Amino acid sequence: MKAVEILAEEHRLLFRALDCFERLLDETTRSARLDVAIAAEIVEFLEQHIDGCHQDKEEEVLFPKLMENTTAEQGALVRELLGVHECERGLLDELRGHLMAAAGGDDPSGDEFVRRGRVYVDLQRSHAERENSSLLPLAEQVLGRADDAEMLVGFRKLEERYFGSEPCDPSQAVDALSERLDASSSA
Ligand SMILES: [Fe+2]
Ligand SMILES: [Fe+2]
Repeated sequence: MKAVEILAEEHRLLFRALDCFERLLDETTRSARLDVAIAAEIVEFLEQHIDGCHQDKEEEVLFPKLMENTTAEQGALVRELLGVHECERGLLDELRGHLMAAAGGDDPSGDEFVRRGRVYVDLQRSHAERENSSLLPLAEQVLGRADDAEMLVGFRKLEERYFGSEPCDPSQAVDALSERLDASSSA
């Protein structure tokens, strides 16, 4: 699989994870009770796989490659996307803080978790859609085979940094989350 195809595949996983997050937020609003354990699993997944490894693949591997190869105008797209990554990481830090406070019994923090969680979901969705429609086609257009081979090496190093040398299938984690949400909403 080419580097760009790996990122597109990770975006599909991201959309599924965001659907799970949105289901949790809807269920929390409906029942007025935050399931702290599932919320913690979702936040951890986003920290590790999305704002962590996936965005590091973009920032440390793809974006520098593009900056070597693109025009100033195309470089502006990369800078815009980097700015959104910063916002997303800031929101995720906030969510982690609200979740810890909610787990300690602070109900207003649970409400803030839901409110800011919806902002995060909307921002991540529109960001990944923009990357699918603008960034990945640009990368396909300007990067060649040698670039791709180098990027694949960079991706593997990042996966090892995050998850060690054992093969890791994050889609199984999203399947498990989806099943837990099914069980929780039918309980
Ligand atoms: Fe991104
Ligand atoms: Fe992305």
